[in-house]
Amino acid sequence: MPAIVIVGAQWGDEGKGKATDLLGGRVDYVVKPNGGNNAGHTVVIGGEKYELKLLPAGILSPNAIPIIGNGCVVNLEALFEEIEGLEARGADTSKLRISANAHLVAPYHQILDKVTERFLGKRAIGTTGRGIGPAYMDKVARLGIRVQDVFDESILRQKVEGSLRQKNELLVKVYNRRNVLVEEVVEYFLAFADRLRPLVVDSTYVLNTALDEGKVVLMEGGQATFLDVDHGTYPFVTSSNPTAGGASVGSGIGPTRITRCVGIIKAYTTRVGAGPFPTELFDDMGIYLQKTGGEFGVNTGRPRRCGWYDSVLARHASRVNGFTDYFVTKLDVLTGLESIPVCVAYDVDGQRHDEMPMTQTDFHHATPIFEYFDGWTEDISGARSLADLPVNAQKYIEALERVSGTRISAIGVGPDREQTIVINDLITS
Ligand code: IMP
Repeated sequence: MPAIVIVGAQWGDEGKGKATDLLGGRVDYVVKPNGGNNAGHTVVIGGEKYELKLLPAGILSPNAIPIIGNGCVVNLEALFEEIEGLEARGADTSKLRISANAHLVAPYHQILDKVTERFLGKRAIGTTGRGIGPAYMDKVARLGIRVQDVFDESILRQKVEGSLRQKNELLVKVYNRRNVLVEEVVEYFLAFADRLRPLVVDSTYVLNTALDEGKVVLMEGGQATFLDVDHGTYPFVTSSNPTAGGASVGSGIGPTRITRCVGIIKAYTTRVGAGPFPTELFDDMGIYLQKTGGEFGVNTGRPRRCGWYDSVLARHASRVNGFTDYFVTKLDVLTGLESIPVCVAYDVDGQRHDEMPMTQTDFHHATPIFEYFDGWTEDISGARSLADLPVNAQKYIEALERVSGTRISAIGVGPDREQTIVINDLITS
């Protein structure tokens, strides 16, 4: 009964889609435990590029049953648009299932996301504007609308009314926007009911029964460790728990059933949106990594901020997730660099910090202390084993393993599913 969790170890966009896709052929279920259409997975199969926002990357694995878990927030319009887009390209989405307990993103959540960001001004989070934060706020405030509510018109109306009573006050009196009509929202949701009905299941029952039967379940976390509302760089975070514990809650698979926890980590670091980022590059090298790595958001098209690998973050992520393995992605992007810096500690106002500073203030003032490694010029995109890598690339990987707190079990050397070096099998060993 292997239950494997995949978690981004940095600020997202580490290539989780590729890892899921790589394992996809051997897993029976892929569940997305958190997030919504704020995510962005790029999966390349046989040169064909797929960009996924709400659906788990496992949707492209022909044998896996993809599930949107109870911890997700679902925008129904975005869901069906994505399904139709994939179907038009020949993908089979018929196996997709959605938890009856997942929450829905309402049109007013998106309005609130945008007006709140504007209201915050200089302190804006840089959200994706997809209404994710407001939808999670409603969930915790017990004002949310769940997938199952769409099948009970009377309950749906009551809940929409309850939620809008408060939101309309905010929208009209604080943000100077027009009020949202209950009937419009009810009609909006009801319009999806027939298409939604065959997809909805008690996903915790489905997944736990599958584990009882010896099936392989993969939990594909959205976002990443440092965007986690508890463990991330709060308040510059998303509104869910993308860490491994959140995967358990968001899919209803108890922590004792999790057998592997794989951190996906880029060979350098990127971040979209606002917030501290100690190894960020502000010079031509940052632009170089952005261009070479194709670092532009799948979801919003925003250029990603780029910087060097940060092992302080990697060690912290290892701890809070309990990683068993690291999958290092995009090593090929570093090919051609003369020397590659790796952040091993921080300097905070003249004091060395080997681990994550305790306070936000210190983290904001942290500057990186680097160790430098010699680069390589050989094309590594065809490497399929560690021995195929140039010696300096091997040394770089050894160094990352030494400073990151978890063994490295796989390395991505190009965007395609095949362009991967597997050192330890991520399911069995
Ligand atoms: P939200 O999730 O839209 O509320 O955005 C909160 C923060 O998380 C912003 O900085 C976003 O750019 C970031 N974010 C959300 N989802 C992703 C993702 O999948 N990859 C990278 N950053 C993300």
